[in-house]
Amino acid sequence: MPSFGRNRVEFELNGEVVAVEEPDPRVSLGEYLRSERGLSGLQLSCRQGGCGACTVLLSGLEGKDGGLDHRSVNSCLVPLCSVDGKKVTTVEGVGSVKAGLHPIQSTIVEYHGTQCGMCTPGMVMSMYGLVRGNSEPTSQQVEDQLDGNLCRCTGYRPILDGFQTLAKGGKNCGPCNQAARCTSTCAKDIEEMGACGGRPTRLVITKDGVTWVRLASLQELYAFLRSAKSKGDKVRIVKGNTASGVYKPPSANFIADISEIPDLTKVSVGESGITIGGAVPIADLMKLLEANSELSPSYEPLLNHLKRVAHHQVRNIGSVAGNLAMTHEHGDFTSDVSTILMAAGATLKLGFAHNNGAEQSVGLEDFFNMSLEGVVILEITVPIMPKTTRFLTYKVALRRVNAHALMNAGFKLEVDSKKGLIVGSPVIVYGGVKEYPQRARKTEDFLVGKSFSDRKVYSKALEVLQNELVLESSWDRTAYRSSLLGAFLYKALLSLLPEDAVPAPLRSAIAEYVRPISTGEVNFDKGDPAEYPVSLPIPKLSAGLQATGEAQFMDDIHVGGGLFATYVTSTVASAAIKTINPAKAIALRGVVTFISAATVKADGYCNFVGEYEEVFALSRVQYYGQPLGLIVADSKRVADEAAKLVDVEYTDIQKPILTFDDAIAANSFFSERGIDWKTGSTKLGFQESDVIVEGQVESGHQYHHHLETQRSLCIPGEDNSIEVFSSTQNPSMVQHCVGVGLNRPQHKVTVKVKRIGGAYGSKLNRSACHAMACAFAADKLQKPVRLVLDMATNMQGVGARSPYRCNYKVGVSKDGHIKSLELNILNNHGAHFDFENPDMSSILAFIDNTYNIPHWDINGKIARTNLPACTYMRGPVFVETVFMMETMIEHVASVLQLPADVVREANMYKAGDTTIAGQQLTQCNAKEVFSAVKESSSYESRSQKIKEFNSENKFVKRGISIVPVKFVASWAAQQFIALVNIYPDGSVGIHQSGCEMGQGLDVKVAQVASMSLGSLVDGGLDMANIRINNLTTTVANNVAESGGSVTSELAAMSVQVACDKLVKRLKVTSKMLTTLNKKPSWQELIQSGVDNGIDLQARGRIYPSAGKSGPFQYVSFGAGVTEAEVDVITGDTRILRADILLDCGKSLNPAVDIGQVQGAFIQGLGFYLSEEYRYNSDNGQLITDSTWEYKIPSSKDIPHDFRASLLPNSSNPAGFLRSKFSGEPPYGLACSALFAVRQAVAAARVQWGENKWCSMSAPATVEKVALAANVPVSFLAFS
Ligand SMILES: Cc1cc2nc3c(=O)[nH]c(=O)nc-3n(C[C@H](O)[C@H](O)[C@H](O)COP(=O)(O)OP(=O)(O)OC[C@H]3O[C@@H](n4cnc5c(N)ncnc54)[C@H](O)[C@@H]3O)c2cc1C
Ligand code: FES
Ligand code: FES
Repeated sequence: MPSFGRNRVEFELNGEVVAVEEPDPRVSLGEYLRSERGLSGLQLSCRQGGCGACTVLLSGLEGKDGGLDHRSVNSCLVPLCSVDGKKVTTVEGVGSVKAGLHPIQSTIVEYHGTQCGMCTPGMVMSMYGLVRGNSEPTSQQVEDQLDGNLCRCTGYRPILDGFQTLAKGGKNCGPCNQAARCTSTCAKDIEEMGACGGRPTRLVITKDGVTWVRLASLQELYAFLRSAKSKGDKVRIVKGNTASGVYKPPSANFIADISEIPDLTKVSVGESGITIGGAVPIADLMKLLEANSELSPSYEPLLNHLKRVAHHQVRNIGSVAGNLAMTHEHGDFTSDVSTILMAAGATLKLGFAHNNGAEQSVGLEDFFNMSLEGVVILEITVPIMPKTTRFLTYKVALRRVNAHALMNAGFKLEVDSKKGLIVGSPVIVYGGVKEYPQRARKTEDFLVGKSFSDRKVYSKALEVLQNELVLESSWDRTAYRSSLLGAFLYKALLSLLPEDAVPAPLRSAIAEYVRPISTGEVNFDKGDPAEYPVSLPIPKLSAGLQATGEAQFMDDIHVGGGLFATYVTSTVASAAIKTINPAKAIALRGVVTFISAATVKADGYCNFVGEYEEVFALSRVQYYGQPLGLIVADSKRVADEAAKLVDVEYTDIQKPILTFDDAIAANSFFSERGIDWKTGSTKLGFQESDVIVEGQVESGHQYHHHLETQRSLCIPGEDNSIEVFSSTQNPSMVQHCVGVGLNRPQHKVTVKVKRIGGAYGSKLNRSACHAMACAFAADKLQKPVRLVLDMATNMQGVGARSPYRCNYKVGVSKDGHIKSLELNILNNHGAHFDFENPDMSSILAFIDNTYNIPHWDINGKIARTNLPACTYMRGPVFVETVFMMETMIEHVASVLQLPADVVREANMYKAGDTTIAGQQLTQCNAKEVFSAVKESSSYESRSQKIKEFNSENKFVKRGISIVPVKFVASWAAQQFIALVNIYPDGSVGIHQSGCEMGQGLDVKVAQVASMSLGSLVDGGLDMANIRINNLTTTVANNVAESGGSVTSELAAMSVQVACDKLVKRLKVTSKMLTTLNKKPSWQELIQSGVDNGIDLQARGRIYPSAGKSGPFQYVSFGAGVTEAEVDVITGDTRILRADILLDCGKSLNPAVDIGQVQGAFIQGLGFYLSEEYRYNSDNGQLITDSTWEYKIPSSKDIPHDFRASLLPNSSNPAGFLRSKFSGEPPYGLACSALFAVRQAVAAARVQWGENKWCSMSAPATVEKVALAANVPVSFLAFS
């Protein structure tokens, strides 16, 4: 080990110098900031660099000229030791509620860009990273800046709309207008390096057998590597350490930081091209490519491709060399950087430590074939190509940005344009074929001297290509990858034609998709001044706290002496447990105990959650990822490590039942939970029909992707009591289950919910088992214990939206009237029931959607499989069944050759009809809403234009679809409780029983309280006087769960009941104080109330009865139009425009409701287009258990043009204050995107005579779309 250095890391944190003695080299900056500095604004949601919630600003010396620069980075990936000598700014250093919000923060508040708030600090810090280096960013830069930040709630539109005002020319652009009064560190001149100034020096830090070494020169690095080799030490070189977001880093006792070695940070531009050092980040190469784009025809395409590599936070710090070395280490990594640089002929200069620093230049092909033992990538040179060369690259991924390639390719082709021939030495490289990028040498040779516009040449070249690049068959998506071989080759060859020689219908096949800067529009009524502040678009109460990172989530609560728990989970899906041996884990320093089903029993606790589920599996494992026990340790890191050391022996390991087909083959069903339901006579219906249409439709799992995973913190108290902080939507259930589990009366169990960082149904039932597990540990040890699931454990073991399969038979008249429906529906629910759900009869509430169909026969069965029990996911049953119904409509329309909207309108419910669930539609505006959005979206004229577009373009097609929805919600027998306290100073504290999880409940409640109490005073009651307190079961006793879209209304209703009582008590006082018709001020009123001994605390309780017109309180209608464009050769899909119209009655807060519309629609886009669960069929392991594999929509996947409106002049007599819910209905409208895609595919297929109905299941991923289009090779023309 080198003798230099100090065992200490020093850096500047939000303007203050921080010294950390003996830090653990494996600890990330994010972990340190949260756990040691209490900076809980940043969230460690995925710890994979995949979500951006942990973004902070790193300022330091980077690059050739040593200037100070600012980069937003993922603090979950950045090692703490690597920030020595730098400056770190977290969201807390940017602005605070007390010191003043930074314009970025106030903008996100003003534009309603926060819902649950978990992503918000990360969003702020990404944007801050942009404006620190560039106070007048362009709109394009702003649009691009969120490529590494995921938001599951808002749909991005409000965030982008707000941030665009900070772009050049925007109303908030320019120097910070808060600077004068602001006291946050951001306002200080952080261009100075202060106490940490200068280029960081050498550093050696050792802790627990792992040493971090920062080397200052190449010679030092070589000497270090040689010495390590001679001693048998394992060394891991790091630059950005971002590869750890993709692959778990190999264990090493030395981590060698090369980021400050001057030779490796150099860049130069010369005759040989652009040369960058082996520690230069991708972002820096991009800047060089941009600045020198004139030099080589390859530089612009390389730059454009790199824009789709990872996202800006990774590119800011992750190096090009790191990417290449990562590919070397993991041949199965489909690296874009490697593929495109290999195609561009990049060369590497390597340094050989074990050969006295000898140097060698190699191409990438050779690089991937050599050993990297003791080898350092010194330089990478991207050569200049002759102007006559065409350089083309391709990538397909599940998402536009922040997604690894499913396949990629690079082509370097020289042409003799006069002769129309390929000449010179072509280079063709494909990634995603098998391990490492592959050169297609035989195809290259074949193409030399051949015409690039001859279809026969293409066919033959494809044959050669397919023969030489044999796809790794053990990798997924073989058929798709095979189709992409030809797709990329075709596009590349066609691109060689002079622009004017490309036949017009083929041009779109080679035109690069350029996403415009997206736009949005929102429309809603101004509201009723008589009810203000109700009906005003007021920002969420905690938006400022969320934007500054001050909002606290469950895991932000600090308690002294707390312990940390990690699950031990099963690694098979169906087996008997023979033994569980925790000995090795318990021997680890810091481990306190291991809890399992056996210890739970021995301790006298109850291991059952409800009737069906064990907290820890006792004798048999039913799914991969099932909890078997809990390790409790003094730190999260130790608990995680120890959990892996628990030995579990299984016997009777069975092949798991995972799919519908598996369940059918094994006849594995929950027989008592099915449905066999009829109305009318389908036989008669079919007899009356002109046409019978039969088909099948399927939809898959969907993960909630809440940025806050399932979490609990349990604190034992005196007298056997326990306090449970849970991120739950159902505190009463948690209280009940913990009480039963601990065998404790419920008055000894207090559940508290601070706020929830996203839930979407996942925390309705699924929180209880985790709270119980955590409570067992806390009670046993009599210490506070916290259980925070990591993302993989959360995804593997916690259920998702459940998959459905529907076989349908539809009887319909020629004019599109559906007479009869016969449905066989299968649901895959997993291993056990999620409490009482699902009862398949809930299908009846939604399956008819907006259609009046006389004869029905529904047979439904629930498959029992070796998967975790599925659970509620926003719009459960509704989203899936609407998709079934609307697929049938599309199918019928296709068979009848009628426009789908005509079939929809022909069958639509009208006022006075009764739904199949028995709901009388006393008010029904389904048709009006449908017609209104049809009109406002110019559906007809755009449909016509799309026809024209499709007739002019062969391989890029468009589709448009309009879909209506009916959504019903029940609130019968849902108890909600509120406690309103007016304090002598006039401030109002409200406890209520709805959980705030981003849906804007708090602000709606406060608006109602302000309206109600404010009626007594002059000028009303300013909402600033009102605070919504955290939820506790002490007040919210035996209350309903928060879910089903109705919570905000019911919570507000209960608060109104309490406020009405207070108003009644204060009325006389108000009258007394009223002089000359002028009511008293709020202060005067309350002071007088206090003086006169009026009780200023009131409880409100509601327990609503069933609606008058049927099982549901009321019905809501909405409609949406979506236009999509599809490259049918690759399956690449873009949503051009979406128009959503929702009847929200008289909205309590239109900004909140519009936010729900936008967010739900984009979540729906994910369900219908990109979010895919894939399992290992041998052991039942979920393969897509990370942000790397599971792709929710990014900000670059939302519609180019997104218009969301609430139906004007609406009023709902059956709703609270004439309002309607908003949270779930727009979700179902997103299926219009899938249908638009399907229509585009269908429009392509007719070109090669495929007129048959083309079915499309959800999610319609790029893969499914391309395979559905199935473009025949013979159709890939050049003329
Ligand atoms: C969320 C996410 C998304 C991503 N998406 C993409 C994508 O779409 N396309 C794509 O191509 N890539 C993608 N990547 C990969 C990303 O480009 C790499 O993680 C990054 O380039 C690695 O650089 P680094 O400096 O952080 O390497 P490190 O993590 O520091 O190191 C990675 C490996 O390289 C070795 N190494 C580093 N420098 C040298 C050197 N000079 N000489 C020898 N060995 C060295 C290290 O020993 C280690 O084995 C993604 C990564 C993440 C986290
Ligand atoms: S926690 Fe760092 S990117 Fe998700
Ligand atoms: S507000 Fe973005 S994830 Fe919830």
